[in-house]
Amino acid sequence: MRSSVDGQKAIVTGANSGIGRAVAIALARAGADVVVNYVDRAEAADDVVAEIRAAGRNGIAVHADVADEGEVAALFAAARAAFGTVDIVVANAGLQDDAPAAAMTLAQWHRVMDVNLTGQFLCAREAIREFLRRGVVASVSAAAGKIICMSSVHQTIPWAGHANYAASKGGIRMMMESLAQEVAPRRIRVNAIAPGAIRTPINRPAWETSEALSRLLQLIPYGRIGEPEDVARAAVWLASDESDYVVGTTLYVDGGMTLFPGFSTNG
Ligand code: BGC
Repeated sequence: MRSSVDGQKAIVTGANSGIGRAVAIALARAGADVVVNYVDRAEAADDVVAEIRAAGRNGIAVHADVADEGEVAALFAAARAAFGTVDIVVANAGLQDDAPAAAMTLAQWHRVMDVNLTGQFLCAREAIREFLRRGVVASVSAAAGKIICMSSVHQTIPWAGHANYAASKGGIRMMMESLAQEVAPRRIRVNAIAPGAIRTPINRPAWETSEALSRLLQLIPYGRIGEPEDVARAAVWLASDESDYVVGTTLYVDGGMTLFPGFSTNG
């Protein structure tokens, strides 16, 4: 059994920033060639490709809006053209567009659902098609392919002022488990990672001042904010044969945020 993803081909969506960036670089350092998907800031994607090449692996940047069916098909076609096939898909692209419920526009609701939930479905569907087409190649991996959905602690923890985001993440959980149940017999492993508070641009207001950070730390039993590399290490493990018997699971990488820390001195 292999301990890495050596020689495997990966697509990471939303890979020019935050968690996606760290996952793409960690997969390359573990031996994978990586398609760096992005939707804006092409120069940031090029920078990730440079890191991948510095790690001795092949990387390409491919623009695609994951909410667009045709663009997702083109993303996978570009991956196949560059690398021949795809073994690992990390459906990571996501965003927040927060508002109190009474003020949330339908456009805000749709945008978050389209990118976070529909975008992950479109990527998972393309991945499943490619994995079914190719099947297991025993010299590469014990599985025909691995899909990792980037969820959130908010697939479990309700979040006032973020109904669109929390609903999208709750949806990812059921989508991931349903897909996992469906395709496990074909040796495709679908799992999710649920990060807690990770130091990335998406939640900058929650950590950039010391007052905000100390409020945030009250929600994290382990006493520190997460770093993108904390999530990246989990993603490499889920993508490798080390986790070959892990199917349909959500791995929480949250410093204990889902342990209801408010109850440690109350209730
Ligand atoms: C959100 C962050 C938030 C974290 C913990 C993540 O899914 O994107 O903004 O800090 O959950 O609440």
